[in-house]
Amino acid sequence: MRRIDQIEPFRVMQLLERAKELEAKGQTIIHMEIGEPDFSTPAPVIVKAHEVLDSGDTFYTPSTGAPELQQTLSRWYQSEYDVSIAPERILITPGASGAFSLLYSVLLEAGESVLLPDPGYPCQRNFIRLAGGIPLNVPVGPESRYHLSLEHLQAHWRKDTRAAVVISPGNPTGTLIDPAELKVIAFECHERGGWLISDEIYHGLTYGSSAPTALSFSDNAIVVNGFSKRWAMTGWRVGWAIVPEALINPCRRVMQNIFIAAPTISQHAAIAALDTDAEVEKMRSEYDERRRFLLAELPKLGFDIVVEPQGAFYIYANVGKITDDSKAFCWDLLEKAGVAVTPGEDFGTHLAPQHVRFSYANSLVNIREGIARIKSFLAS
Ligand SMILES: Cc1ncc(COP(=O)(O)O)c(C=O)c1O
Repeated sequence: MRRIDQIEPFRVMQLLERAKELEAKGQTIIHMEIGEPDFSTPAPVIVKAHEVLDSGDTFYTPSTGAPELQQTLSRWYQSEYDVSIAPERILITPGASGAFSLLYSVLLEAGESVLLPDPGYPCQRNFIRLAGGIPLNVPVGPESRYHLSLEHLQAHWRKDTRAAVVISPGNPTGTLIDPAELKVIAFECHERGGWLISDEIYHGLTYGSSAPTALSFSDNAIVVNGFSKRWAMTGWRVGWAIVPEALINPCRRVMQNIFIAAPTISQHAAIAALDTDAEVEKMRSEYDERRRFLLAELPKLGFDIVVEPQGAFYIYANVGKITDDSKAFCWDLLEKAGVAVTPGEDFGTHLAPQHVRFSYANSLVNIREGIARIKSFLAS
């Protein structure tokens, strides 16, 4: 099959398009399908962006990023995680998405494979395919909090495997990997001559213990993060990859070619984001309130939440008591109740028909309305 023919669309987009059609006809739709913060960016970032524009700095930055942002992030890793990271190891990319396309272009030869959790963030598979690689989707469940475990690595790692991916807090599950497991996985990947890629984009949005960075356990881990979620900056397109020294130059060469550089104004504005703890805390505590509301209400309606999600803004619920076809259920729920949630099939194939993802990146008022609508839909 040609490479492009292996690239799947985001299936939830069809649902979203239908939701928009219904809205255009005057219906109100409660959106619990979208994986994007409903808050706008903290004000100091917007102020900083205006300053950058007024200064006339509209030029490219160096390919690996604005040095001021790399240095600020390096200091931030020290204060946030107590790890020492040289600024030049922090490569600034157009969103975390840019980091993934960069990394897979650098790390993979055609036909090499990467271990991914299923269910998991769907774009990963496609980034790997675009780089000519093979995504190996490993079925994961509640036993490992929906993350890859050491046993999974031992059972699924092949001769052609180059990396394993951990996303914690997870999308679609919101669950955190046990730090001890992250540590052994980092070690195992290194032992096998491969890489651990740790997607830490939902760090900071945790509702209990905070998540340690994989870099606390191994200097060989590759970390991907970005400003989109914790700092509500999806539209600014700034993220980063932290790579071992040996990968800096190969990455630089690819960055020069595929992006030239991440957006200059966004990079400089993002420096201000690292000083907005109070604003982030306000968003985090609001997410937590919504999370607790849903954790209390969803099981009453028959949605089983097997592992309590302690991060991101997602709840991955088992709908087995309600339906054996979560996709049909989601379409019905949209058409008949005006509530949009994402079917499990968007995140893989393992137990997909029994699961849906609720996103609580919507106001508590709307979420309450969504629950009331689901309740009457199920009763009808
Ligand atoms: C797990 C995960 N990683 C990466 C991304 C991409 O984020 P960015 O906006 O930084 O490209 C997303 C976005 O939804 C995500 O859920």
